Amino acid sequence: MADGSSFYITTPIFYVNDVPHIGHAYTEVAADVLARWHRQAGERTWSLTGTDEHGQKILRTATANGVTPKEWADKLVAEAWKPLLETVDIANDDFIRTTDERHERNVQRFLQKLYDDGHIYTGEYEGYYCVGCEEYKQQSELVDGTGEYAGQLVCAIHSKPVELLHEKNYFFRMSAFADRLLALYEEQPGFVQPESARNEVVSFVRSGLSDLSISRSTFDWGVKVPWDESHVVYVWFDALLNYVTAVGYGEDDEEFARRWPAHHLVGKDILRFHAVIWPAMLMAAGLEVPRGVFGHGWLLVGGEKMSKSKLTGIAPEQITSTFGSDAFRYYFLRAISFGQDGSFSWEDLSARYQAELANGFGNLASRVIAMVNRYFEGAVPAAVAPTDVDLAIAEVERRATDASWEAIDRFAIHEAIAAVWELVDALNGYITEQEPWALAKDPANRERLETVLATAYHGVGTLAVLLSPVLPKATAKLWTALGAPGSVQEQRIDRAHEWTVGERVGTLEALFPRIEAGE
Ligand code: ME8
Ligand code: MG
Repeated sequence: MADGSSFYITTPIFYVNDVPHIGHAYTEVAADVLARWHRQAGERTWSLTGTDEHGQKILRTATANGVTPKEWADKLVAEAWKPLLETVDIANDDFIRTTDERHERNVQRFLQKLYDDGHIYTGEYEGYYCVGCEEYKQQSELVDGTGEYAGQLVCAIHSKPVELLHEKNYFFRMSAFADRLLALYEEQPGFVQPESARNEVVSFVRSGLSDLSISRSTFDWGVKVPWDESHVVYVWFDALLNYVTAVGYGEDDEEFARRWPAHHLVGKDILRFHAVIWPAMLMAAGLEVPRGVFGHGWLLVGGEKMSKSKLTGIAPEQITSTFGSDAFRYYFLRAISFGQDGSFSWEDLSARYQAELANGFGNLASRVIAMVNRYFEGAVPAAVAPTDVDLAIAEVERRATDASWEAIDRFAIHEAIAAVWELVDALNGYITEQEPWALAKDPANRERLETVLATAYHGVGTLAVLLSPVLPKATAKLWTALGAPGSVQEQRIDRAHEWTVGERVGTLEALFPRIEAGE
């Protein structure tokens, strides 16, 4: 929001039962764009991602593969989850694993505090458990199975049978926090976004909160309950705490005060954990609640949520190996209104790549650099006597800068990109109308040519800054070709239009090369 204020953003920590698909990459990319944008606006930014490694789901997968859960997690983290960050070009500040020492000992510390303060009691519970969700389900969240599961109750999200469990467990007195939660949603209407997510959460809490079973004793893959080692901590209770253990909770108060509270970006599948259970846990511990929880939509396949467990996942490399990481980042954030569901299609991706990235932006950048080389031997011209049409471009630069930052500030990533694209379109229109190639034919138009290319050059530089969070690779190349000082990522994005021009341009290869069909 302003210089020096802090912006701590998190992604969910992902289950390592399987490799990532484009849904996970989507969350990573969105969080990364927000983090880069805020960082370039001068905020003290911190971005966290990581992996969720305890619980029955991981234990079962490891067992089925004949290895220990820790071996399984190590392998998946090294071979799949960390490489995902390279694949889609994520500049995260930290990566937490729930098997990290720093995490486990502070989960115990947190739990012990809640226990000592009377928020935990022993109880019994019987209910239907979905291992896919790692959650007890209400009857209303179950549906009749079909096919191989006909005659059984299945989880509406995973379409797999739930298990009837009866256990003696430790319980967190979550019901005691219902009123404070409702007051929170009331006083901070932006606490849960988007609006549809907020409404769902509010009506869920209004309908009555029960206490939460927070330990399991039938298996031991988890953090041990400190006062009773025959129990392990419920995987969600353990996992949610990553957001504070990663920034010093329990052992580095200064670091914790500097970073916390966070903005949580999650898929809407796990909204309630973040918007209900998590703030209740924090209230019980006397800690600040998050700044906010944003629940984004799902990538759909055939109208259903793309999923690891249903094997409908598309690997991110399938896209990046042909189109590159920049195009991946751009496509999903541009094509889907952030907060809504979206369907991926190769046709739409190819069409937008060609029309928007290659022809709209890439070609504009190449032409402007090439004309400065051709008509001025690479020396960047200065505007001589700008007219209304030239000044109008400067005005669009300012508007795109302000409007995109304003949209980012409310997590409307697609609106921010659309605001920047008004500048792409304005510059393309300007060049078509001003016809610098025609001006170049007559030396009498030399000053006009200087003004037109100086104006276009400036606009392209502003675009480089504004698009750097979304297209880090292409804009870095463009920045070098513009001959501008420093790196593009050091430029203030909230004042993008005030960038310092260079003296000489270099050459620029196509930023988004043509992709042959069938490649
Ligand atoms: O739930 N569309 O992990 P998870 C969009 N470990 N996003 C999707 C998606 C889709 N089709 N599929 C997955 C867990 N995602 C817990 C989280 S946090 C303390 C613990 C993304 O591996 C989206 O961000 O099942 C979703 O919320 C997350 O992956 C779920 O990942
Ligand atoms: Mg899941």
